[in-house]
Amino acid sequence: VGQVIGQQVVRPDGRTEGPGPWPAAAAAEGQVELLYEYGPGLVPGGEMTGGMWRYRDLLPLEPGPIAYPLPVGGTPLLALPGPRRESGLPGLYLKDETRGPTGSNKDRATALVLEHALRAGARTVSCASTGNVAVSLAVGAAAAGLEAVVFVPADVSPGKLVPMLAAGARVLRVREGYEAAFRLSRAAAAAFGWLDRNTGVNPVTVEAKKTVALEIFEQLGRRVPDVVVAPVGDGPTLCAVAKGFRELVLCGASPRTPRLVGVQAEGCQPLRRAFESGQPLRPEAPETVADGIAVSAPVSAGAVLRDVRESGGGFVAVSDEAMLRAIAVLARGGVLAEPAGAAAFAALAPARVRGLVGAGETVVALVTGTGLKTPELLRPVGEAPEIPADLGAVVQALGR
Ligand SMILES: Cc1ncc(COP(=O)(O)O)c(C=O)c1O
Repeated sequence: VGQVIGQQVVRPDGRTEGPGPWPAAAAAEGQVELLYEYGPGLVPGGEMTGGMWRYRDLLPLEPGPIAYPLPVGGTPLLALPGPRRESGLPGLYLKDETRGPTGSNKDRATALVLEHALRAGARTVSCASTGNVAVSLAVGAAAAGLEAVVFVPADVSPGKLVPMLAAGARVLRVREGYEAAFRLSRAAAAAFGWLDRNTGVNPVTVEAKKTVALEIFEQLGRRVPDVVVAPVGDGPTLCAVAKGFRELVLCGASPRTPRLVGVQAEGCQPLRRAFESGQPLRPEAPETVADGIAVSAPVSAGAVLRDVRESGGGFVAVSDEAMLRAIAVLARGGVLAEPAGAAAFAALAPARVRGLVGAGETVVALVTGTGLKTPELLRPVGEAPEIPADLGAVVQALGR
């Protein structure tokens, strides 16, 4: 079993504090990173079974059976002809994170947080969310027999609100938006003694999400890709990818880490601006269809800016139109994505122009969220004519 030997905190301004003991006495402002006694035995080999739990030696988890009942991790790494052709990248892979129980990469973090909750005897788990985290927690908590209290922006999309309610979560729509919902959920968790699942605050979420990097490594035949492209809202998704690859090096499994490209929406790109200007991050009011990355003041700003810089990568901003086009290409290529989920694919062309992605490289783009929650943003190709139940009508309708 991997031993967590401490933690460090990356402050929003990028300063690192620690290492210190874990669990810490008080919740920190910034991103908490757990540190392990690294070694070659911690990276599993052989047949890839067990989903996310196969990496339990690199997770903060005591020995014992897994109580959380839903499957998690083990998502496919797809080599799809359509997206490869459209992007002009023959070495492109899509890491299809839409395959979790609720169709987003948030299901990994939910699983580990709820495994902790079950082992600790917690009753109520809470979080703030732009949408997907709340759906994931709602469904996961329902499966685990726990109560979920989720704080979302008042204008959360109906395709995400309905599944949360259907799963029986207590949903509070906060008028002032996501950042206010985040602060309120933290205060409520502290006041009422709930287990706080908030990303960036609860280090367990990044630990779970880093398993995506470990899977990519194994799926590529124990090789690290040249570049990983990931959407960035609060930042933990990308930080987790970075941490996963870093730990492969620390364990002696890989000699190097990939370049990382963070993707933001043109209508909300505080991290891209801070990265390129070198100035402190300035919050921006989000204006984008990509709710998953509509985060004006990212919780993990310091850590994500550091990780992208240290990887030799950069940030790219994509327009809503580019994300909608990417959704269409991915749908015709075999993957249904929501805007934030398609953002990494949309970023490939501008990333190539900027020299962040090379035509001959092995490139992995994360598809982080399913389009089934945002069907209104899928672009139909053709129409669906109503016909009588008659073979002649089929011939006529299909022009055969
Ligand atoms: C589909 C999707 N992609 C990407 C993100 C961004 O992840 P992070 O906040 O970890 O940067 C989110 C966050 O909600 C999301 O829902």
